[in-house]
Amino acid sequence: MTAMPPGPAAAAGAGAAEPLTIRPYVAADLEALIDVFLRAVRETAGKDYTPAQIAAWAQADRGLWAARRLSRPTWVAVAGGAVAGFADLEASGHLDMLYVHPAHQGRGVASALLARAEAAARAQGIRRLFTYASLTARPFFERRGFKVVAPNAVEVRGERLANFRMEKPLGG
Ligand SMILES: CC(C)(COP(=O)(O)OP(=O)(O)OC[C@H]1O[C@@H](n2cnc3c(N)ncnc32)[C@H](O)[C@@H]1OP(=O)(O)O)[C@@H](O)C(=O)NCCC(=O)NCCS
Repeated sequence: MTAMPPGPAAAAGAGAAEPLTIRPYVAADLEALIDVFLRAVRETAGKDYTPAQIAAWAQADRGLWAARRLSRPTWVAVAGGAVAGFADLEASGHLDMLYVHPAHQGRGVASALLARAEAAARAQGIRRLFTYASLTARPFFERRGFKVVAPNAVEVRGERLANFRMEKPLGG
């Protein structure tokens, strides 16, 4: 049998509970991240938004994604060799993306990613994290110390999606 060459982790398969590692994004992760994003939006956030809203949200321009992923720190959660989730952080303290594969929901993947982003923010002297949390993600962020500052909405391809501006001060 030919040994598999080292390569990017694929998107997560069904339900394994392997140990989790968090590592920086590499360009070869792009397809796996897009797969996690599309599945998280369709299967997890799909419970909180209409089909038309989900169809507008669940789109990924590969060129734009490739550029954005490399324009800011992005971390990838890997479980059992597969991508279970990812998060990023802009220099302003804006946590733009946090998505977990439906097969890995509720196992602390987002918490581990947020902890990594928070540590990086503190190391950079960022004094406050903020995000525009979906209806789906709001309870997660509340559990992790964020507070709603204002209800908000975003216009995506002609659909209006409600979300919440949420912030967490990074004391000390
Ligand atoms: C929001 C999301 C990232 C959470 O990922 P996750 O890996 O399942 O979260 P965790 O397992 O780390 O959960 C951490 C805590 O939040 C709580 N939590 C997570 N989702 C919750 C929900 N929908 N309702 C209530 N509590 C929730 C968990 O119970 C857990 O609490 P505890 O550890 O203190 O008991 C994930 O559900 C997701 O990808 N959602 C769809 C995409 C999305 O909306 N992304 C955000 C865009 S702004």
